Amino acid sequence: MADLIGNKEAKEYYVDIPQARSQFNVKGMDNVDWGMKDRLSRIFNPKTGRSLMLAFDHGYFMGSTRGLERIDIGIQSLAEDVDALMGTRGAIRTSISPTFNKAVALRVSAGSTMASEDIIRETIAVDIEDAIRMNASCMAVQTFIGTEEERTSLDNLVKVIDAGNRYSIPTMGVVAVGKSMERTTRFFLLATRVLAELGAQMVKTYYCDDFDKVAAACPVPLVVAGGKKLPEKEALELAYNALQNGAAGIDMGRNIFQSEDPKAMVKAVAKVVHENFTAEHAYEYFLELKNK
Ligand code: R5P
Repeated sequence: MADLIGNKEAKEYYVDIPQARSQFNVKGMDNVDWGMKDRLSRIFNPKTGRSLMLAFDHGYFMGSTRGLERIDIGIQSLAEDVDALMGTRGAIRTSISPTFNKAVALRVSAGSTMASEDIIRETIAVDIEDAIRMNASCMAVQTFIGTEEERTSLDNLVKVIDAGNRYSIPTMGVVAVGKSMERTTRFFLLATRVLAELGAQMVKTYYCDDFDKVAAACPVPLVVAGGKKLPEKEALELAYNALQNGAAGIDMGRNIFQSEDPKAMVKAVAKVVHENFTAEHAYEYFLELKNK
């Protein structure tokens, strides 16, 4: 039965207090819809505005690589320390428990593998409906700026952005580097800005010289990939420098799951991302955990 008495008694309208207005803690995203902000807040911790993503989507073009032979064993044990899990629908559905309830950064482009001459030919490999079924917090699309596949990959990106905008699912444009793509500041300045201008709500890229300029020129958050396996201290330095120079997140794969102690490493990277640990401090913390 309707609560007529409650309605009549309503009186606390706080007419002297203006309605709360919040500044959203994700760069460039003040004007997006509520649903998109909700998803972005699952990726970027609302307190720190930063994100640690664990990337384990490598199998979509590399097959089983070291550290990812068994995703159910290698990755699940690391999930609790990260904000988002970046993987393919095949890996996540089969090998990650939905009870972890972490943000999913769903890899939605694919199309070539290490068995082909170059890995720059991709298509959209996941329908938007399946991304919704996966409860994706964002969709990741690889782009190949400066290659013969530039146009196709940007076409993939804008189609995913448009589909994502219909349902308030953010898209992460991924800047690929490879055989035919230079790793210069000039290249990253161009590529990151282009993906943001095309509508990507976040951009995944690599760390480079003058990264502060790359970050300043990109109106959406930059998430920096770890790249090939480095000694732990160097990987922590990479993460620290990227964040100090304007990155909003770290999307690290091999430097975590191929570490001599992946659990200690993921915890150390999380300290750099969310608690501003210096690389030295985080490395000491890594050693402490490793030796336990
Ligand atoms: C590249 O696009 C891969 O799909 C990975 O997501 C990315 O490179 C991050 O992983 P890693 O830190 O191993 O480079």
